[in-house]
Amino acid sequence: MKEQDISRLEQIFQEKIDNDIKIEPRDWMPDRYRQTLIRQISQHAHSEIVGMLPEGNWITRAPNLRRKAVLLAKVQDEAGHGLYLYSAAETLGADREQTIDDLHSGVAKYSSIFNYPTISWADMGAIGWLVDGAAIMNQVPLCRCSYGPYARAMVRVCKEESFHQRQGFEIMVNLMKGTPEQKAMAQDAFNRFWWPSLMMFGPSDADSKHTAQSVAWKIKRHTNDELRQMFVDATIPQAELIGLTIPDKDLKWNEERGHYDFGEINWDEFWQVVKGNGPCNKDRVDTRRKAKENGMWVREAANAYAEKRKVRKAS
Ligand code: 3HC
Repeated sequence: MKEQDISRLEQIFQEKIDNDIKIEPRDWMPDRYRQTLIRQISQHAHSEIVGMLPEGNWITRAPNLRRKAVLLAKVQDEAGHGLYLYSAAETLGADREQTIDDLHSGVAKYSSIFNYPTISWADMGAIGWLVDGAAIMNQVPLCRCSYGPYARAMVRVCKEESFHQRQGFEIMVNLMKGTPEQKAMAQDAFNRFWWPSLMMFGPSDADSKHTAQSVAWKIKRHTNDELRQMFVDATIPQAELIGLTIPDKDLKWNEERGHYDFGEINWDEFWQVVKGNGPCNKDRVDTRRKAKENGMWVREAANAYAEKRKVRKAS
């Protein structure tokens, strides 16, 4: 294609971005825009699917039938979010098998938060309240993402995330109204999940290699630090309302800024977990790999059946 044709196409693309007109699968788009969306959407999908594991671990150990039904519904929702997002990645030309193989081979990332163990029932509360709360903070702006299929997928996902966050907070409220042991269990879960939840928003803006371009392309509508600050400002009052102690000695309200100042995130821990050296990384990826192996016969049977129907139709 001639140089001037490409620059004309780039101009049309940028005008759409500037005028908040959604980019659709059949539209021309710069390859780098396509590639960064495939990267982010596929890793988002992986996060949803891997995110099922820490909570799935507690479905059979829920304290009563209601809690079991709610947790089951939440985990099933996450599977649906993952499938939604894998499909959104496919509209950009991503190959589903390759995408999933990238997760199993360690080439692709998923959210660091899911590499921490869930050692008590209170962790189900902390994850719903904090992790899904952080996910909502990050995903609501994605409903206005410049890429149409991603933005539309987020509208549906966010509706379900708010149920996830509320059921988690309800668990924490109940525990904090309970016995001293239950209060201690909730506080311990908060202590273990608070800082990893802040890490979900990614590295600081200064260290983020994608944020500037993603904001320019209106994939991201806020930077990592902006969303992290919004999450802290929204969540601290909730923690204080139910009597939790904030595991950050440097946290304090800054009247001048109109925000909470908070302590330094342990970025060494963050990058270690992102690089695959977190407490549960190996276990999570092994589990996903095994799920694919164990499900191979289902795929083979479905393909064989589809093949047979095709032959029968053709004859
Ligand atoms: N965990 C793992 N990797 C992370 C990370 C995290 N918390 N934060 C950043 N990274 C990676 C990025 O993927 C990137 O690596 P890559 O180039 O190999 O992809 C690198 O660190 C640099 O980070 P950047 O901030 O420059 O990268 P992004 O611009 O992609 O920002 C992000 C990272 C904020 C996670 C962004 O990708 C995003 O908003 N993704 C969509 C939302 C999402 O994936 N959320 C994850 C949780 S989903 C969830 O919680 C489901 C809920 O139902 C439980």
